[in-house]
Amino acid sequence: MSVRRFGVSLDAGVLEQLDRFVKDGKYANRSQAIRFLIEKHTVEHKWKCNNVVAGAIVLVYDHHKRDLTNKLTDIQHDFHHLILSSQHVHLDHDTCLETILVKGKSKDLTKLADLLIGVKGIIHGKLVMSMVG
Ligand code: NI
Repeated sequence: MSVRRFGVSLDAGVLEQLDRFVKDGKYANRSQAIRFLIEKHTVEHKWKCNNVVAGAIVLVYDHHKRDLTNKLTDIQHDFHHLILSSQHVHLDHDTCLETILVKGKSKDLTKLADLLIGVKGIIHGKLVMSMVG
């Protein structure tokens, strides 16, 4: 990867914010911090766009947690148009693993995954997305 230099003009206050970000994030220098911010922005933008993607939401949870399974079911019914299938596996006496296969606009899948993963009692949750076509 070739590295190119360019000049950046910033207000003093913004530069101060950048330097604080460099220090708090333990970046080696301003260039590394800016690179991180650009990459983060790019990834988030891709995930919030209108591209149709396919993916999987993986949830691990303790099914004894009060109302948890009801909430998961309610959310999935609200978003049924995005859900292709789901599979529930009882891992042990307490723990369940659920995989929900989804297809739709990446911003909608992200919203659905955030709602599911945000339900109180979820031990682990992750959304994986893949481009379609
Ligand atoms: Ni189970």
